[in-house]
Amino acid sequence: MKSDSPKTFHIKSFGCQMNVYDGERMAEMLGARGMTAAADGADADLVVLNTCHIREKAAEKVYSDIGRLKRKDGSRPTIAVAGCVAQAEGAEIARRAPSVDVVVGPQAYHRLPDLLDRAARGEKAVDLDMPAMSKFDALPKRGAGQRPTAFLTVQEGCDKFCTYCVVPYTRGAEISRPYVDLVAEARALVEGGAREITLLGQNVNAWDGEDDRGRTVGLDGLIRDLARIDGLERLRYTTSHPNDMTDGLIAAHGEIAELMPYLHLPVQAGSDRILAAMNRSHSVDSYLRVIERVRAARPDIAISGDFIVGFPGESEEDFQATLDLIHQTRYAMAYSFKYSRRPGTPAATMDDQISEEVMHDRLQRLQALLNEQQHAFNAATVGQTTRLLLERKGKLDGQLIGKTPWLQSAHVIAPGLAIGDMVEVEILSAGPNSLGATMRQLQEA
Ligand code: 5AD
Ligand code: SF4
Repeated sequence: MKSDSPKTFHIKSFGCQMNVYDGERMAEMLGARGMTAAADGADADLVVLNTCHIREKAAEKVYSDIGRLKRKDGSRPTIAVAGCVAQAEGAEIARRAPSVDVVVGPQAYHRLPDLLDRAARGEKAVDLDMPAMSKFDALPKRGAGQRPTAFLTVQEGCDKFCTYCVVPYTRGAEISRPYVDLVAEARALVEGGAREITLLGQNVNAWDGEDDRGRTVGLDGLIRDLARIDGLERLRYTTSHPNDMTDGLIAAHGEIAELMPYLHLPVQAGSDRILAAMNRSHSVDSYLRVIERVRAARPDIAISGDFIVGFPGESEEDFQATLDLIHQTRYAMAYSFKYSRRPGTPAATMDDQISEEVMHDRLQRLQALLNEQQHAFNAATVGQTTRLLLERKGKLDGQLIGKTPWLQSAHVIAPGLAIGDMVEVEILSAGPNSLGATMRQLQEA
């Protein structure tokens, strides 16, 4: 039982970029309340574990992390479990791990200060409410001190109910944040120093809203208007569903210079039979057609994706079909996972669950192909002149690391330049995960 109010905090975010965004908003909120980020995370008064429930391993890790939380003097910090494990397991967490003081779901974290007060009085404070978007209204406005690249959650939740996925249960129904709020938050981010914004949502391309003239707009309309903000040089969005790639959004890739040539479009599997069992509601053909149209609009676009191997009932032939789809699509980057059985999802009780050995073997083969494609994509940029947005320091003196428009990391020796600068470079070399570049000319921030 904790009786003192924490003064310093440390937030550990796991999983997707929406958790990273939520972690940043929690930090801003705790900061507005007078708390400070602990210089040394291991010594914080409050530790927030901002958790991910998407695969079993990620969810189980929370418990071992809780067990290990101790400060240098041997005392234990106040412990809050936030994110999707909190939503899915609720009060059960505090029963299984009695040292947990606060359990707060992804739609209720704006109430963290109150929950901490309750915990300081010795209560186990649990809040799993899903009030429609009110957390965004309750959070402090965003301000100065932004990094050059910022996240902006525009949409949350998912109504797609893929049969393997917990997101519709942990993050709730699809909701779009209002247009005016998003424009205001984007402006605040840019005024605070951001030069690139990534729009986030579980189904970001399903976003819709009413613009300032009362017209209904989709994500392409929002992107078009955000691109006009002075000082905002790059826009990205993730994650998209193939069925929500509208004509307007596809066209936007060819029309809006600020929209970077990168599209994360998960397909999960390359067999129509498996896609149907996954309830993906698109086919291999319809996916490939979307890719083709996006490439027609923006020929240099980098395509990335997500794959699951070993979904229940997946045969070697189904798996081969996934490899075929990868050959046809040519990915610049991709994430791939073994199917993880999640209690409460329809796939968890399907017949013909695939053995660990078969999943392991398929994942190896799939990743070998994806790595080869990633390396080939990187190699094809050698010799090109492009721009990097510098994001962090490199290992060498004067070296900075930035991102190309295609989201590749590239390092460059850039004397006199700083994080946040945009620099024109020539790509000199390509490895599987990063590029080497040399400076062409510089542009001050
Ligand atoms: N098992 C394995 N991978 C999963 N994903 C979602 N649910 C599961 C699961 N049960 C993957 C999908 C999704 C990504 C975020 O995580 O590929 O696109
Ligand atoms: Fe999960 Fe499918 Fe929704 Fe993506 S679209 S969050 S995989 S249910």
